[in-house]
Amino acid sequence: MAYITSAALAETGYVVLDRYNQELDPKEWLDIEYNDWKSSGDTRFAPLASAFGEIECNGFWNHKPPRTDKDGVWIDSQVEKAPNLTRRAMEPGSNVGRCRVIELQPTPYGECLYNLHQDDNNRLNPDGTGWVVRGFFNLTDDTESFFVLRENRTDPEGEVRIALPAGAQLIIDTQRLWHAATHVGTDPRYCLITSWTSGPELDAYIAKYNGMNHVESVEVPQDVLDAGYAEQARKDAARAAYYAAKGQQAKLAMSEA
Ligand SMILES: [Fe+2]
Repeated sequence: MAYITSAALAETGYVVLDRYNQELDPKEWLDIEYNDWKSSGDTRFAPLASAFGEIECNGFWNHKPPRTDKDGVWIDSQVEKAPNLTRRAMEPGSNVGRCRVIELQPTPYGECLYNLHQDDNNRLNPDGTGWVVRGFFNLTDDTESFFVLRENRTDPEGEVRIALPAGAQLIIDTQRLWHAATHVGTDPRYCLITSWTSGPELDAYIAKYNGMNHVESVEVPQDVLDAGYAEQARKDAARAAYYAAKGQQAKLAMSEA
């Protein structure tokens, strides 16, 4: 047995879809309710679908009974305030697990590298069923910001940096790829994140919007990259020292975002 996966994601672990015309929609992400949820970086989250339809963001496996990241329950009060976001999350027609808007405060490149993590979307996912991947719809027009993808958390070789203007639409195997966002600017970035189950519906959606599994990386000056690598190493060392002092092994800044 093996998981059902998308051929489009097989090579690079991501696809970038056609850009959505975000400017025509109201800023629904400003109307919905947020709660503080510790993730990588300085964040808040506003769930649209959660384990039991409550305004909370915990992994479905942390509920009773524990289950994988599928069959999210839409939250009526949030859906009412964000009909366009809900429509877009449901458009592929594949199963939706967690669905929420992330609010991320400005995050420089080095901090982003420190925040790089893999998600745990497929915990308890039964073998032979669809692999859970994630959609990222950028809502704010973050023209200087970019999503960072790596196969190895501390190796910049092959790093991909995907631009995040309003309407950018990415689908990423976030359990395979290390990922985090560099957010430049003074205002928070907002992005709709949806857990989707791989299968023919998601494949058709990726094809319909011309999913590209290779994109040109956002250009960043070499000195900024080098400073970022140094900052990641410095923060990793500080974290390791902190845990060593407590007699524990350092844990990575794992999170759900
Ligand atoms: Fe994540």
